[in-house]
Amino acid sequence: MSKTILVLNGSPKKSGNTERLVAWFTEGARPQGAEVEVIRAAALDFKVNGCASCRACQKKKRYECVINDEAKEVLKKMAQADAVVFATPLYFYGPSAQLKLIIDRMFSLYKWDNAAGTFSSPMKGKTMALMVSAYEDIGLKIVEKAFKLIADYSEMGFKSLLVPNAGESGEIERIKGIRARTVAFAKKVCAT
Ligand SMILES: Cc1cc2nc3c(=O)[nH]c(=O)nc-3n(C[C@H](O)[C@H](O)[C@H](O)COP(=O)(O)O)c2cc1C
Repeated sequence: MSKTILVLNGSPKKSGNTERLVAWFTEGARPQGAEVEVIRAAALDFKVNGCASCRACQKKKRYECVINDEAKEVLKKMAQADAVVFATPLYFYGPSAQLKLIIDRMFSLYKWDNAAGTFSSPMKGKTMALMVSAYEDIGLKIVEKAFKLIADYSEMGFKSLLVPNAGESGEIERIKGIRARTVAFAKKVCAT
């Protein structure tokens, strides 16, 4: 059966460095038989600024957010995909705010039993992949660590591609071999 991969592009820039990484990733994944869907976080119609912390999702049987907007549909797709790829520019040593708006709403994809100290989640066993481009080579490891912690907590596999010296939007193409590296990264993600 073909693997389904959901790619969340966190950059507000069309034709930016992140968009190029996503295009090369897709170029690498599709020949492996993967079904790849790309969603631009910045284009989503959000009804709330991130998670409202209402905890209403914890009272529902299903793993779903109670806020009815486009991000809710993205979360449903995350729960169904085999792999979720977070692609983001580095913004002040973290992911973009546009991507973080979705990440915080992943709260609805977990059900905690605090008394028992356990939780369940449809994210368990999936693969999380991270692609980050940045102007400098400072801070990429910090954002990688944050995503790895989420993956470990969720019992997901984890792979990352960190791209420093990507410069301003579009300049990533000047990095020698970056397209081939991203295509190879996609193949690795497909092989998990
Ligand atoms: C709001 C903002 C914050 C940024 N913060 C950082 C940073 O902390 N470190 C860094 O190396 N680059 C930083 N950058 C540069 C971007 O990460 C970099 O140019 C990235 O490759 C742009 O990707 P894009 O073209 O997909 O938007 C920042 C850019 C913006 C617009």
